[in-house]
Amino acid sequence: MLYSQDQTWASEALERFLLKMTVMRERACTKIPYTTKNGKYDDNSTLAAEKSMGIGWWTNGFWAGMMWLLYHETKEERYAEIARFSEEQLDTCFDEFYDLSHDLGFVYQPTAVADYRLTGSQAGRRRGLHAACLLAGRFNPAGNFIRAWNDWGDGRDTTGWAIIDCMMNLNLLYWASDELGDPRFRQIAMLHADTAMSAFVRPDGSVNHIVSFDPETGILLGSLGGQGYGEGSSWTRGQAWGIYGFALSYVHTGKTEYLDTAKRIAHYFISNIPEDGRIPTDFRAPVEPFYEDASAAAIAACGFLELADLVPALEKDLYRKAAVKLLRTLDSRNCDYNPDTDGVLRNCTAAYHDKTHEFHIVYGDYFYLEALLMLKGSDFRMW
Ligand code: GLY
Repeated sequence: MLYSQDQTWASEALERFLLKMTVMRERACTKIPYTTKNGKYDDNSTLAAEKSMGIGWWTNGFWAGMMWLLYHETKEERYAEIARFSEEQLDTCFDEFYDLSHDLGFVYQPTAVADYRLTGSQAGRRRGLHAACLLAGRFNPAGNFIRAWNDWGDGRDTTGWAIIDCMMNLNLLYWASDELGDPRFRQIAMLHADTAMSAFVRPDGSVNHIVSFDPETGILLGSLGGQGYGEGSSWTRGQAWGIYGFALSYVHTGKTEYLDTAKRIAHYFISNIPEDGRIPTDFRAPVEPFYEDASAAAIAACGFLELADLVPALEKDLYRKAAVKLLRTLDSRNCDYNPDTDGVLRNCTAAYHDKTHEFHIVYGDYFYLEALLMLKGSDFRMW
């Protein structure tokens, strides 16, 4: 009974989202948005005169990802047309190469792989497999980790850095193994996930953002603050990647340690959700200034809903209730349903020490939509 109330609420929230999206998609149909400027989406496509973050930016798959989720939900061909525009623009990433990072999963799974899975597109399959090979090529067998970023030219050597976010990118490798019947991709993903379990997840269920290894010997050198408040803190989006990423590694491998790890991070997250449901950028930052990250709430909600599907009946309520609390808070406090402006989820924060905080970011919208569809009972899973 309670569950059907949640589903009804999710359908209503999805209606609000769709009413805005049908107007917004036409304004943004040739864009690859990251955030909004003066109420309108910016543009990372190769056609944009003024790019926001560039064509290799890690978030460039999420606009198309929303289009594919809604194509599946509504069967409207227009969503597929818009998604394909992004997918084709993204071929420049392969040519430019240096900007690519461990985030190939975030870019190619909601674009090319979704296209292949939903329409059978062979171009989508080829692009997805190409991206998976590039991601596998970032694996360092000395420390059993996938290198996060290439050097940024600012003097810092990132050769031995791995980050918790990568747990979500492993899904591209699991897909490639299933698609090719070739276990190598899955083996690399599991070696990385095993390293992440021991090097990122702390005994209390909180997680490090960046861990540094000696790239020659694989010896663990220590952790770095990354996008949260500082070393030893608890960047909430990283916690959310951990919950969802480990839960999905369990889905793809059946290894119960991954499920237990996802639950441990989830219990830490749930015990830190503030009374008002607004998720800070870091659970261990000072109380003031308060920088909200609504995207962390949306991603954590997806992770909780995934967990609710994986655990025995007696445990389900804990995760589903936590997801519903977060989603209802987002709907009532954070969502901008005005069709005259772009972007839905306000108050997303990319990194604690950035100059700007609490703005629209496209992955906030993407994971909010994904969570609503999961709660509503959609049979399509992107990852
Ligand atoms: N790189 C993923 C994130 O900022 O969450």
